Amino acid sequence: MARSESEADLPVVAGGRPLRDSFLVYGAPAIEEPEIQEVLATLRSGWIGTGPRVGRFQEAFRSYIGAPRAVAVSSCTAALHLSLLVSGVRPGDEVLVPTLTFAATANAVVHAGARPVLVDVDRRTQCMDPSAAASAVTPRTRAMVPVHFAGRPCDMDALLGLARRHGLVVIEDAAHAIEAMHDGRRVGTLGDAACFSFYVTKNVVTGEGGMVTTSHPDWADRIQVLALHGLSADAWMRYSDAGFRHYQVQQAGFKYNMTDLQAALGIHQLARVESNLRRREAIWARYDEGLAGLPAWTPAPPPEGGRHARHLYNLHLDLERLRATRDQVLDALIQERIGTGVHYVALHLHPYYAETFGYGRGQFPEAEWVSERTLTLPLSARLSDRDVEDVLGATRRVLAHFRR
Ligand SMILES: Cc1ncc(COP(=O)(O)O)c(C=O)c1O
Repeated sequence: MARSESEADLPVVAGGRPLRDSFLVYGAPAIEEPEIQEVLATLRSGWIGTGPRVGRFQEAFRSYIGAPRAVAVSSCTAALHLSLLVSGVRPGDEVLVPTLTFAATANAVVHAGARPVLVDVDRRTQCMDPSAAASAVTPRTRAMVPVHFAGRPCDMDALLGLARRHGLVVIEDAAHAIEAMHDGRRVGTLGDAACFSFYVTKNVVTGEGGMVTTSHPDWADRIQVLALHGLSADAWMRYSDAGFRHYQVQQAGFKYNMTDLQAALGIHQLARVESNLRRREAIWARYDEGLAGLPAWTPAPPPEGGRHARHLYNLHLDLERLRATRDQVLDALIQERIGTGVHYVALHLHPYYAETFGYGRGQFPEAEWVSERTLTLPLSARLSDRDVEDVLGATRRVLAHFRR
């Protein structure tokens, strides 16, 4: 036991008692009464498939982002896949993807028939490094998918400049970044298209769900058709009272439509998106304050003129000052009954990308630095003040215990 540890501060890993009785689930969403009632109304309406509520959610989201068009789909992965397909990416093309991201960003490129070309990030912002992206451009590069990591907008001036110089399509992976802004302009309006996620841990949740925003009306029309089997655009209205409509199959599409049950959640989640952000900003500030002085780096502040969507609070452990690995710290936090996450182990360290594309350790040192020492603390708007203090108390006690 370290000399400064009192009995009460002793972590479970050193024989103490867990800080909490109940397990704090990482990423549990803030679901409230209005969406519960809307789901019930949807169930009672007799129509739970793609219908009027999807239309309402799509329009509310389009208006919130301020994009010319929005199309609701079943996930951000589907949104990325369809955006890449309509962008003109073809088999044999290369698409720049940061190596520090969730698998879906690169997998969508593979599903579109192209090759994901991984790019290193900047360890402070965790976003794709524009100079590394510039070095990765070849005559076959057709598109880039920058990820606004953790909700912090990427350096879009540099990335858009690079895209302009090389004629690249830009598809923003905005899965973390619904509320984010770059230089006063909203994420979702910066590139050719942007893809959002409403997965259970995201800032707006529909269980599963996604959205594409785009400034290209023809892309939006094609995505809408591709998202529902390739059927003619208003096929989802075929059971409405507007009279029977025959659909036409225009393409071999996908089953990527959002349902009214999901949209019922989304409509009310979106109505609280700004108040939930303010709550997460307050939790973030409390974490910054409460974690000061510990052997760990706290996340980079938002860029000047920008707004951070506060999706992930990633702590980077100062491993040189700790006698534990990140995984030992994670385990110790779980034993305190605090759920945590890892965002992410870089893609090039996973077997699929290594074996298929020949990537390996040592290629992207910044992303590897993050991969080894990152852990994500809970940041849902659902957290009570007590929960936040428990997260802080557990993190402090565990890091104090492991401090060299
Ligand atoms: C950066 C990033 N891109 C894409 C996705 C895929 O989102 P979905 O689960 O909605 O398909 C995620 C989901 O976690 C993500 O974090």
